[in-house]
Amino acid sequence: MKEVAAPTVRPTDHTDTAVVEWTAIGRTVATSRPCRPDHIVVPAVRDGLIAPYRDDRSPLSVAADAGGAHRIDRLDGKEHLMSGVLVTGGTGKTGKALVQVLRNAGVRTRVAGRNPDAADPDAIRFDWNDPTTHGPALDGTDRVFLVPPVESVDPLPLVEPFLRRARRAGIRRLVMLGSAIVLPNAPSAVEMAARVRAQPGGVVLRASGFMQNFLRPHPLAEHIHRHGEIRTAAGDGRLGWVDVRDIAAGAAALLVDPGADARSDYLITGPCGMSYPQAAQIITARTGREVRVKRITEKEQAALYRASGMPPEFADALAAVERGIKEGREDRVGTAVLELTGRPPRTFAEFVSDHAYEWARE
Ligand SMILES: NC(=O)c1ccc[n+]([C@@H]2O[C@H](COP(=O)([O-])OP(=O)(O)OC[C@H]3O[C@@H](n4cnc5c(N)ncnc54)[C@H](OP(=O)(O)O)[C@@H]3O)[C@@H](O)[C@H]2O)c1
Repeated sequence: MKEVAAPTVRPTDHTDTAVVEWTAIGRTVATSRPCRPDHIVVPAVRDGLIAPYRDDRSPLSVAADAGGAHRIDRLDGKEHLMSGVLVTGGTGKTGKALVQVLRNAGVRTRVAGRNPDAADPDAIRFDWNDPTTHGPALDGTDRVFLVPPVESVDPLPLVEPFLRRARRAGIRRLVMLGSAIVLPNAPSAVEMAARVRAQPGGVVLRASGFMQNFLRPHPLAEHIHRHGEIRTAAGDGRLGWVDVRDIAAGAAALLVDPGADARSDYLITGPCGMSYPQAAQIITARTGREVRVKRITEKEQAALYRASGMPPEFADALAAVERGIKEGREDRVGTAVLELTGRPPRTFAEFVSDHAYEWARE
């Protein structure tokens, strides 16, 4: 493995072409041929020899992260430039926030989703149900943020081959968005977390309930919006609700520097436990929108989730979680956000103020 300086992208007279120069040990060692913006030929350097390397990034994205050193690794007998983070679930709530933090920090970040944004040269198609998309998504990255298949009670069969592939590709850090709450009837999620922890550089973030569930289109938020009411089977039980922006900040701390010391497991929560009745009071006090709490049974809760379009098995498991909350089993708060980011997690009151528009009547 060698360290070489970041590339310099030099424009040519043609707006859609560029040449890339690499310098090593203080001098220019090679210049690429002019090429199309979606395929840059850059030289890779090994043992004093220069070999062309086909990169799938555009000159603009190379220029954007020209600043840090790049690693050259041996992969499949060839030299590849490996640096950057693949963010699965990159179009979702946590992933989107993470992409923003990583890009602001100058880290090359590949956004993975089923419908990649054509305007983003670093967006790539990735579908858990289509393993042919997994290799290309991993190619050329050395870190991964993993959002497992959503609304699934059995994610392991889809994630396991991806973990094997990530190991073979030499991924140095893999951070999985897991859950502090173990869904009943979903033992494979526990097994999946264990497999991630056993992965080289594997870290599990066990996140508590998301404050963003109070934003549409989550069914909890839809009901507040339409009826001014939270329907819950959790009674006065409390949960350490966390803002996804704080999960993203914690994940970024682990992904920006894959060499930094890290544990393999973090419980990610907000600053304190909060019940649904307390949440309703805070929303009312901060926004003026009166929000009531209607106590319902677990069965009614499951029916509500099913009606919102969740798969029946998942809806039932999620409703059963409310029992654990009611009985105080999920009332846990940790210090990981402070530990990872150097600042305390956001309070629910701050979250509500930041999204006050959500509770305005139309
Ligand atoms: N909500 C909570 O309270 C809570 C608490 C703890 C943990 N979690 C965990 O957090 C995760 C969800 O995170 P989030 O809320 O940030 O995400 P989200 O906003 O629900 O978005 C889901 C993401 O997953 C992607 N996705 C969906 N189906 C996919 C597929 N078949 N293949 C590849 N990607 C797919 C979506 O991308 P495209 O649609 O663009 O493909 C999107 O980026 C879940 O695993 C959940 O268990 C949630």
